[in-house]
Amino acid sequence: MACFFRRSVALQIKRDAVVEEVVAGRGVIHFRLNKLILAQKLLEQLHSEPDGFGVKSDLLRHLQGGRTLVEFSSPNIAKKFHAGHLRSTIIGNFIANLKKSLGKDVIRVNYLGDWGMQFGLLGAGFERFGSQEKLKTRPLEHLFEVYVQVNREAESDESVRSAAAEFYRRLVQREDQALELWRQFREITVDEYKRIYQRLGVDFDHFSGESFHDGQTQNVLEELKTKRLLKTTEKGTGVVDLSATGDMSSYATLVRSDGTSLYITRDVAAALDRKQRFGFDEMIYVTDKSQTVHFQQLFHILSFMGHQWAERYSHTHTHTHTHTHSVPTYQMCHHVAFGLVQGMSTRRGEVVFLEDVLEEARSRMINNMRQSRSERRSDFKGPLISDYKFDWDKVLQSQGDTGVFLQYTHARLCSLLRRHASESYSCRDVSPLTDSRSVSVLQHLLRYDEVLLQSANDLQPRHLVNFLMTLSHLVASAHRELPVKGSPAAAAQARLCLFSAVRSVLANGMRILGITPVDKM
Ligand code: ARG
Repeated sequence: MACFFRRSVALQIKRDAVVEEVVAGRGVIHFRLNKLILAQKLLEQLHSEPDGFGVKSDLLRHLQGGRTLVEFSSPNIAKKFHAGHLRSTIIGNFIANLKKSLGKDVIRVNYLGDWGMQFGLLGAGFERFGSQEKLKTRPLEHLFEVYVQVNREAESDESVRSAAAEFYRRLVQREDQALELWRQFREITVDEYKRIYQRLGVDFDHFSGESFHDGQTQNVLEELKTKRLLKTTEKGTGVVDLSATGDMSSYATLVRSDGTSLYITRDVAAALDRKQRFGFDEMIYVTDKSQTVHFQQLFHILSFMGHQWAERYSHTHTHTHTHTHSVPTYQMCHHVAFGLVQGMSTRRGEVVFLEDVLEEARSRMINNMRQSRSERRSDFKGPLISDYKFDWDKVLQSQGDTGVFLQYTHARLCSLLRRHASESYSCRDVSPLTDSRSVSVLQHLLRYDEVLLQSANDLQPRHLVNFLMTLSHLVASAHRELPVKGSPAAAAQARLCLFSAVRSVLANGMRILGITPVDKM
């Protein structure tokens, strides 16, 4: 029976030019590839349109079109830019790049923590011991200093606490002077961040923030009231019941007893505003997993309000006339959660500012390049949700599976191609590429679209990361065993054709990950 099944499957599989033969064996089905046609087809495609390779595959066609809003990085003014913000920046940038390369219109939003009670503290603190001069020379450090100090004093000094409450009241009531100071904090911070993001090669279409939506929270509350979703508790707070049975076993607080809004209230307002302004088809939030419940609540509230675009669609099977295929659970609003990063510190101590991380990375890398070590392992090779122990040595290795290894491979390919730039190579005759080494590189390249599909489905970079790492390992051995120099002209040309194809796939994949490939190292 099983054997019959396998044989009939084997017969049904369409044989095309690349699959030469399909044979049922004991418990397996063998596919024999026509190696020559594999090489010809693949390399022809790669050289005629290197940037469309993979991303324009039929496999990914259903993902094209539409508008995706990706919200990521989102640090808080005057607070630490912690490792979680760095991870959000890198993951969010990857998701935005991936969606863009698959043909979507992408809007990149940075949602700053630029509003809330803490700005009362910061304002009051600055009025006491802030310095305009320091604010200009080292803005992020100075705001952080003031914030730490005012928090410390507020603990024991009632007058500081009331000054903070007073400052926040002035802000909420849009009093000129208070607002002007706040605006200055924000502007200076955004300018600093823009400079640092540029260093990372990350950019945003909008620097939005909680402050943009505080004014809209009243409308949200009105809408919730009209829809009978907002309940007032005995304590005077306003809550939305999120339980399935209506017994308040789970709920979210949207209004404090003094009438002010909370983080989640501003998020509801922000989501509605974005939907209206940008008309996105899907929206993706990237934060560490400590905010998972927050986003679940946010999506629930939005869908209770009748906004279907925040709902979860789980039509797991769709039928077309010939095939039945399962479609992953589809949701128009996603939260991409990642694990916490422990132990990231610099020589200056615990990480507070992003720039310190970049400086540390730079100096350690220069140091490493002088010494050079080896061991494997890196971030983004596993599921995002896992926590991650930070280790400078592991991050910066050029031999292990790190971003540096990808750069190294790319630079090496570039140098090979540079060295042979004078010998114009062609891909006309690829017959020398049927040896097992070349075929395994080609077969690996063939999987690129499938890997992009996996990453697009679960928004995890690991599929692409692992694909590029394996590609680089294959290249390392191909480098040794498929020499260009000293080989007969036909083999040398075909190999150059292969290496240049690999280089362009590697470069494109790296760019999606947010790594700008270097030509020299
Ligand atoms: N500023 C927040 C934080 O640092 C992250 C914002 C996440 N996005 C959102 N829409 N709530 O924790």
